[in-house]
Amino acid sequence: MTRTDATRPHPAAPQPGATSLSAAAGTFRRLRLALSASGLGQWLTVPALSAMAVLPEDDTGARLRAVGGVLALLVLPAVLLAPLVGALADRIDRRLALLIADGLRFVVVLTVPLVDALPWTLAAAFLVGCLSLLWTPAATAGLPALVSDATVSASAGGAVVARGAPEDDLRAGARRSAARAAFGPAPFAALAFALLALIANAALGASHRADLPLYATAVVFAVSAALTALVRDVPATEPITVPAPLKLLFQGAGLDRAGRGLGLAIGGAVLAASAIAAVARVHAGELGGGDAGYGAVLAGLAAGLASGLFLGPRVLGPFSRRRLLGLAVIAAALLLIVAALVRNLVVVAFVTAFLGVAAGAAWSTASAAVRGLGAPDGEAPGGDRPRAFRRSIALVVVLVSVAAVPAVAGALGSHRIDVGDGYDLDGSMSALLIAAVLALVAGAVAYRRLDDRRGIPLVADLRAALRGEVYVPPSQVAEPEPVRREHGVFIAFEGGEGAGKTTQARLAAIWLRDHGYDVVTTHEPGATKIGMRLRAMLLDRDTTGLSDRAETLLYAADRADHVANVVRPALERGAIVVSDRYLDSSLAYQGHGRRQPVDDIARVNAWATGGLLPDLTVLLEVPPADGLRRLSAPADRIESEPQEFHERVQAGFRALAEADPDRYLVLDASRPQAELSREIQYRIREILPDPIPAGTEDATSTFPAITDV
Ligand code: TYD
Repeated sequence: MTRTDATRPHPAAPQPGATSLSAAAGTFRRLRLALSASGLGQWLTVPALSAMAVLPEDDTGARLRAVGGVLALLVLPAVLLAPLVGALADRIDRRLALLIADGLRFVVVLTVPLVDALPWTLAAAFLVGCLSLLWTPAATAGLPALVSDATVSASAGGAVVARGAPEDDLRAGARRSAARAAFGPAPFAALAFALLALIANAALGASHRADLPLYATAVVFAVSAALTALVRDVPATEPITVPAPLKLLFQGAGLDRAGRGLGLAIGGAVLAASAIAAVARVHAGELGGGDAGYGAVLAGLAAGLASGLFLGPRVLGPFSRRRLLGLAVIAAALLLIVAALVRNLVVVAFVTAFLGVAAGAAWSTASAAVRGLGAPDGEAPGGDRPRAFRRSIALVVVLVSVAAVPAVAGALGSHRIDVGDGYDLDGSMSALLIAAVLALVAGAVAYRRLDDRRGIPLVADLRAALRGEVYVPPSQVAEPEPVRREHGVFIAFEGGEGAGKTTQARLAAIWLRDHGYDVVTTHEPGATKIGMRLRAMLLDRDTTGLSDRAETLLYAADRADHVANVVRPALERGAIVVSDRYLDSSLAYQGHGRRQPVDDIARVNAWATGGLLPDLTVLLEVPPADGLRRLSAPADRIESEPQEFHERVQAGFRALAEADPDRYLVLDASRPQAELSREIQYRIREILPDPIPAGTEDATSTFPAITDV
């Protein structure tokens, strides 16, 4: 890994001032446009160069190997030379690196149709691969370096974050913008290639069909270079970090079981997507299509991948991300089987698009699942390393599959199977089937390894997720053990942030005291001396890197102390204990919110509390967005979790209540406070040791003084 001096301010960095503001915004926009153009060129080289390798001859094996060779040589530099080129990119001026990369790619791509010989096409693929390797880090570091509050706010389309956001956020936004510019054009490039191929076929004839896309690619690089030339300076204030894929992969051997499962899942998804891309050109020919068909399949794949990346984090909100990851890989593998067996190019393009969606969803889900996994060398989870690890696996799998799948396809050759009128199984179809089976096995093993909801039936889990809920089988809600207590009653108030349970708990306690009961009001976390220290650790935003399990155990420790020193003694003397939060908070927040197994948390807590469960749990429900808006104090560590987290917590509470309705009173917290108090009082009446006659209050408007102590 190489780093530049990250904090050195650049003398030419734009200063927010009236004229420099618009000039800086203009520079930012120009560079972003240049990056998009260059990204388009980069993606165009993939179909254009590989189509050029399809020689007009009959030997299918040779065609397959030639296309595979071009694709492999495009990727090879990223696998082997990444640290070397990264170091180079770090040493030379960013703008110069971009100009060199685009200028030389222009020259190399332009010469390919002029020379028109396979060895040069292969060499060109390797050179383009190297130059893209130089371009990518310079681009992703270049754009954020141009950012200041002024530049981004003034740049209408690029306003990734609001004015006034910290500069780090602005830079992160610009980094995303650079990534979008680099990868976003992929579907458009494939479509443009298909269109250019159609035009070329009509205008130039079959023998020069790949020439036009290649010339167009060269022009795109020239435009990008010209746009970059207009940018006067790209400061070197952003660090360039280029990890070495093979090294990371080698270190990845030290990953734990789940980490290896994650690696398998990524490998499976990438294998499915890259296998079809590797044989698509020749297979399109076998199905009666040409370059345009090839472009259509690639466009389907790229558009599918983009949609999958977008959808991955958004679909099935409450569903376990780890389960989703395994399922997405399995879906991609099954779709690859369909794509391999269908002998209709249009259907293949559509199925490939869905395959892309599944693979893209797997990829983005992997980034969510990667959090919390053990990293190699016992390093703390999180950070850039898991992402780099994910990327390394992808690169190596792409390289191996684009080299091996066409080679296997060529070696297997075509076979005719005697079913019905006869079915032609081409070499590429057989190779795709083999790749699909490998991806399927990888997906299935990954699913098993990553499954964080073992024992929970998948169909019920999926069905609940479709309804926006988390499925909790009744058996997993902690069974109450016989608890020794005299006459006491234990009431817990639960709910998400800002539900108003503290207020309702207090009102219920006042009402009970008015009736002469001995009432103990308490809360979690932090009702005891030790608990207060635990609370500080748990809620302080300065507590960083606390693992989910440790968090769960700290809450359980607080609860154990709370039960032993406050709740149980009070119950044993016959008091009514009203607690603001109890066990369900852990099941909802640490279980559903943090996506940890709910049954494990229930077990730990059953042990911590000696199996003490409330006689009644009042659940106040409020939409998380409203609840979070109601908070007045600065958000604590848990409150500042993203809204999706709070949505899961809410769904978790609901599932717990539904699993044991007799023990819960579920109320819509947006109703008027007085109404809520009244319903709570009615329900509490039912469990009081000496019930208040229901009609008394209505008849007299005053409560009889009941003394049970
Ligand atoms: P607190 O300040 O008591 O807030 P609230 O009014 O929401 O109860 O903070 C408690 C926080 O701790 C709250 O965000 C929920 C969280 N929590 C858990 O995550 N797990 C638990 O077991 C408990 C008791 C609380």
